[in-house]
Amino acid sequence: MLKEVRDLRKYNFDRKINRNNTNSIKYDFPEDYGYTKEHIPLWVADMDFPVAEEIKSVISSINSMGIYGYTGMSNYYYEVLAKWMRKEHNYKIEREWCFVLPGVMFAISTAIRAFSEEGDAIMVQTPVYSPFYKVIENNNRVIVGNSLVYENGEYFVDYVDFENKIKENNVKIFLLSNPHNPVGKVFTKNELIRMAHICCKYKVLVVSDEIHQDFIYEPHTHTVLANLNEKFENNCVICTSPSKTFNIAGLKVSNTFIANPKLRKLYDDTLKACYNGGVNTLGMAACVAAYSSSGTWLKQVKTYIKKNLDYVTSFIEKNTPKIKVVKPQGTYLMWLDCHDMGLSPQEIDDFFKDDAKLWFNIGQRFGKDGEYFQRINLATGKYRLEEAMERMKKAYDHLYKEELEEKDVENEVDEIDEVEEDDELLEAKEIEEIEKEFIECLYASEEEDEE
Ligand SMILES: Cc1ncc(COP(=O)(O)O)c(C=O)c1O
Repeated sequence: MLKEVRDLRKYNFDRKINRNNTNSIKYDFPEDYGYTKEHIPLWVADMDFPVAEEIKSVISSINSMGIYGYTGMSNYYYEVLAKWMRKEHNYKIEREWCFVLPGVMFAISTAIRAFSEEGDAIMVQTPVYSPFYKVIENNNRVIVGNSLVYENGEYFVDYVDFENKIKENNVKIFLLSNPHNPVGKVFTKNELIRMAHICCKYKVLVVSDEIHQDFIYEPHTHTVLANLNEKFENNCVICTSPSKTFNIAGLKVSNTFIANPKLRKLYDDTLKACYNGGVNTLGMAACVAAYSSSGTWLKQVKTYIKKNLDYVTSFIEKNTPKIKVVKPQGTYLMWLDCHDMGLSPQEIDDFFKDDAKLWFNIGQRFGKDGEYFQRINLATGKYRLEEAMERMKKAYDHLYKEELEEKDVENEVDEIDEVEEDDELLEAKEIEEIEKEFIECLYASEEEDEE
């Protein structure tokens, strides 16, 4: 289709679509998770929107042929992928670095098996996406948690604890989530440099899960970890996928990049041991369509979701002020701070599930640091969020009935002051010094490796 025509197309994300009886885990198996059909599901991270026309169209043409045989990575697939990474993220990849796999968690699990031994320590920044815990445990490795520091509605890195945890536990791999799920943090370049410097000092490999890299809110920008420094590129595994951003999670496709040939060989051997053979035909086709020609859809879906984010934020500030929004810098997920509700973590979960009949992700699923929080998925029609917010308000008004009757509740929402960027807090001189040490450390470890 002509580009001009594509650009004029207007997607209607308000359209109501019934996803029941489609084997959707979000809609079809509530009893398995302790919920019912009555609950509004705003949990697992997929979108309630049909994908870009370009993706539908390529899938339709494969369907019309009706052959779904073994599929490999074509040059064209690589070119499209390389162009996307270069244009969107200024990240230059080479063909040999790429592993096309069925999912990011599969890619992470393979990295854990390839680059650590049973009993080794792997560090994550908590609260964090719950499969991170499971993938470490299921591979008989030890979880080490570096708690993110929560202050004034924002999350920061505790570098002292980060370093101590690595040192004390002899951590082998740092599993980074950037942008971070569930807190929505997009790590700044300086934050990444400080963490990378520590990892370099203690020879900790970084597996960087960047599945949400294409969903960033202005003015934040995503830095691919491997882009920090040419040499550091050799100390990381970068995991990406179009699945979240283009809503193709069910098509099982992800792209992992490993620049270091030694690591790549180990990774490849591990994959061979699992006899991982080939990739998903429809997933690969969808990935090409997503990265090569779905820009119009992406722009519109981002605008729509940003409006959802603004709507939910202002609704909550106005109507349920004991619940605080942790403003996401990236991802289409929203992290809600419920500390001020005056309830225990269990009571908070019960409030949303039993009183409001809402199916959010409960904070405890993301680890102990997630207690007192809930996570909502904003990638749905606004009408559904409106219904969810009304239910939440009704349950909230009921819970705080006496308080509301006693006094005209003033809107307790503190203006969420724009907290200064971490970059600004950090003296420019200090970060320069760290960067210098980081580069020296990279050269030193290279010399050691050569010895
Ligand atoms: C940070 C993060 N990593 C990995 C995944 C899952 O990726 P996949 O389905 O490709 O295994 C998700 C899904 O929400 C995620 O948020």
